[in-house]
Amino acid sequence: MAKITDSIAIRGNLIKNRIVMAPMHPFSFHGDDGAFYGKQHIEHYTERAKGGTGLIIMQAARVFGATNSTNLWSCENIAVLKRIVDNCHEYGTTIMIQLSCTDTNINELSIDEISSMQADMKQAAISACEIGFDGVEYHFAHGFTLSKFIDKSYNKRTDKYGGEAINRTRILIELLPEIREKTHEKFMIGVRMGEYLPESQDGIEVSKIFEKAGVDLLHISFGMNPPTHDIPKGFKCSPMTYSGCKIKKEVNIPVIAVNEIKTEEQVRFLIENDYVDFAAIGRGMFTDLEFANHVINGQAVHKCFGCGGSLEKCKWFTDHTLCPGRKVK
Ligand SMILES: Cc1cc2nc3c(=O)[nH]c(=O)nc-3n(C[C@H](O)[C@H](O)[C@H](O)COP(=O)(O)O)c2cc1C
Repeated sequence: MAKITDSIAIRGNLIKNRIVMAPMHPFSFHGDDGAFYGKQHIEHYTERAKGGTGLIIMQAARVFGATNSTNLWSCENIAVLKRIVDNCHEYGTTIMIQLSCTDTNINELSIDEISSMQADMKQAAISACEIGFDGVEYHFAHGFTLSKFIDKSYNKRTDKYGGEAINRTRILIELLPEIREKTHEKFMIGVRMGEYLPESQDGIEVSKIFEKAGVDLLHISFGMNPPTHDIPKGFKCSPMTYSGCKIKKEVNIPVIAVNEIKTEEQVRFLIENDYVDFAAIGRGMFTDLEFANHVINGQAVHKCFGCGGSLEKCKWFTDHTLCPGRKVK
């Protein structure tokens, strides 16, 4: 039986426990001195590292601008990111950054536009490695650009980026050898994706292709739409979390499950029954800086109230100070 405090080695990185902070954009934060990131971000991530989190996947960063060091990839932003990485490492927390592409209709992209997007995707990973991140997670979920590529019902391309699953994953697969060449041995490459693309068997096929191509870690959320499948009687988490457990059975690389994991009991249920390798906590990390330590020490977590139920109604989408569950220290 696995324990929450069991470490897992991925490409030589020892992730100290099974609790992950899910990537979440604190939209109301502002940067310092004209930069996108700032002190608020440093404090936010450092607190969660101090709170015992095994792996932090930092909020989505758009890859756009990576090749010419502009936008999120400017010197000012990189300086802040370095501080975040160093602080997390000081507390023994592994840290990856999520990489996303600007939202677009992938069926209308020219080959040149795809190549330019790939150049940024590749350079963003190389820059993340240089900054000191332990890895990157490509955002193939939630209906954004990359998830449109892998979803069979959306992707209507008739060239090498459409059709068979191998083609629909090509946007990343063909970059992997080049990224590996320019990053160190331990640098992890993960993918966040859904199980339904649009059928479960499609998600399973895609996850296996990513695994075979050398992706180190899968994070199962949802693709174009949240799953609506039934969950087995007695399963203590959501259908989306169950998607992660289904994919875990199909691949041999570590899998993260996410969504509505709010209590110590749920984390134990997932890890101790070997349903998945990691439990990612989203909103629960907003309301409890020490979510991981509390779970590990068997203490009550400061729960997210899930006000309104849906993510869009989460107060952190607009102004984090309005979150009724927010407890600063
Ligand atoms: C304010 C906010 C920002 C988010 N930003 C991202 C993001 O940048 N990338 C991503 O993949 N998911 C993002 N998500 C989704 C979370 O990673 C997570 O999947 C979702 O909140 C469900 O987990 P939870 O029920 O534990 O909150 C965001 C969620 C919230 C509430």
